[in-house]
Amino acid sequence: MTASSPGRLDPKDRVIMLSGANRGIGAAIATRLRQDGYRLSLGARSPQSMAEQQGDDCLCQPFDALDPESPQAWADATMAKFGRIDGLINNAGAAAPFGFEDGDEAKLDHMLEVNLKAPYRLIRAALPHLRASGSGRIVNITSLAGIRYKRVSPGYAISKFAAMGLSSAARSLLWDDGIRVTAVAPGPVNTDMMPQMGGLGREEVTQPETIADVVALILAMPNNASVATVPINAVYEPLP
Ligand SMILES: NC(=O)c1ccc[n+]([C@@H]2O[C@H](COP(=O)([O-])OP(=O)(O)OC[C@H]3O[C@@H](n4cnc5c(N)ncnc54)[C@H](OP(=O)(O)O)[C@@H]3O)[C@@H](O)[C@H]2O)c1
Repeated sequence: MTASSPGRLDPKDRVIMLSGANRGIGAAIATRLRQDGYRLSLGARSPQSMAEQQGDDCLCQPFDALDPESPQAWADATMAKFGRIDGLINNAGAAAPFGFEDGDEAKLDHMLEVNLKAPYRLIRAALPHLRASGSGRIVNITSLAGIRYKRVSPGYAISKFAAMGLSSAARSLLWDDGIRVTAVAPGPVNTDMMPQMGGLGREEVTQPETIADVVALILAMPNNASVATVPINAVYEPLP
């Protein structure tokens, strides 16, 4: 899609909230969206680590997915600075081993809190402003682990399947408000979180900058061209 594609949303003046912006996929998305000309509200547990990005077009705010008050406070701060919110990217995520032999559910609760409940709360907090935008966008970074089960932590897969459900419900229920919701579902990506996948090296798996390219495309697509799910494979598999 080029800048002249009919209906393409112009990044100029559009304001995007991005969670987990300080490293990994989130940092790559932040870099890409700044290049595209968006105004960004970056959320992270340690916003001071992104302080050099703070400026007229960029707000760095505390966001802790384990704090239920954090999403509203971040959305309020975004509105106070920019006066609008056009997009929300739920990127922050957590992965830990949790399987059927585990009796202690603390790790499962943690993953559900970060991968499901915080995105839900962020959608709630941003919703009035995404509605006001008329072309609000929500991108949830889920995972192939949320589409089919294969080798990863069962608890992580459970949380990401739930995040796919969140995406699906939001896509349906918010459609008439002009809000388009997309789940971007990568396989292994070259970040600190990268799972061991059949001995694949870091250069062989998907790179975070490629995920950022996909997110940039989705954010700019017009209301009449919505993509529900983008599965991204690093290696061939028949499904998805
Ligand atoms: N890498 C992969 O192979 C892969 C594959 C499929 C999907 N994904 C998904 O992609 C997204 C980004 O992951 P990544 O690969 O970039 O992993 P990463 O490099 O480990 O980064 C994870 C990000 O989430 C943030 N985060 C974790 N817990 C948080 C909390 N309680 N509150 C706020 N932020 C929190 C981290 O912040 P801190 O720096 O403060 O910890 C960090 O910014 C996640 O949703 C992940 O599940 C990753």
